[in-house]
Amino acid sequence: MKQGIIFDLDGVLLSTDEMHYAAWKSVADELGVPFDRTVNNRLRGVSRMESLEIILEKSTRPFSAAEKEALATRKNDRYRALLQSLTPDAVEPAVRETLCALKARGFRLAVGSSSKNTKLILRLTGLAPLFDAVSDGTNITRSKPDPEVFLKAAAFIGLAPADCAVVEDATAGIDAAVAGGFTAIGIGDAATYEKTEIAIHSLSEIPEKI
Ligand code: BG6
Ligand code: MG
Repeated sequence: MKQGIIFDLDGVLLSTDEMHYAAWKSVADELGVPFDRTVNNRLRGVSRMESLEIILEKSTRPFSAAEKEALATRKNDRYRALLQSLTPDAVEPAVRETLCALKARGFRLAVGSSSKNTKLILRLTGLAPLFDAVSDGTNITRSKPDPEVFLKAAAFIGLAPADCAVVEDATAGIDAAVAGGFTAIGIGDAATYEKTEIAIHSLSEIPEKI
């Protein structure tokens, strides 16, 4: 029986993955670099700079390190402008109800996200008090599929990986969970990924016994 559950943020707790997409899309369009949802799916779970590298694979010209920094900043400024519209209403009722129910059943809950905007998002949506710990892009050196973010989350809630499940929408996140020794629960695109151990379509489907 697991004692802890670690949740990815973007695309699991909130639809902020759509805001990431919109912000990258506007930058890619300005550059004239083709960018669509298939490419976007490869950005799930990976860091901001790694995401930019994936987008620029389709560019016909090289970019200097300084240009890449400026592009990543441009994207993040646009993303953060979109985030300002977030309120507690952005959280689906089923998500908040599930988190409250899991907490009441005694699970320790953590967030495990590659995003450096995690704490801002948790504050704007009022989700912060529901979590015992947050491991995010500000405390890791390697992003998913490396398990670092989840290993730190487990350590922050005082549990071993074997005692925790991870909920993810990204294949890179499922890879990270499996590599770290966690039980991998997949939602969204990750529900059909072969390494996913438990597939769900809503957080309310997290099994009673994991
Ligand atoms: C992850 C997203 O949660 O955070 C990625 O799935 C994103 O798409 C990454 O690139 C980093 O986010 P941020 O907010 O630090 O740019
Ligand atoms: Mg995600």
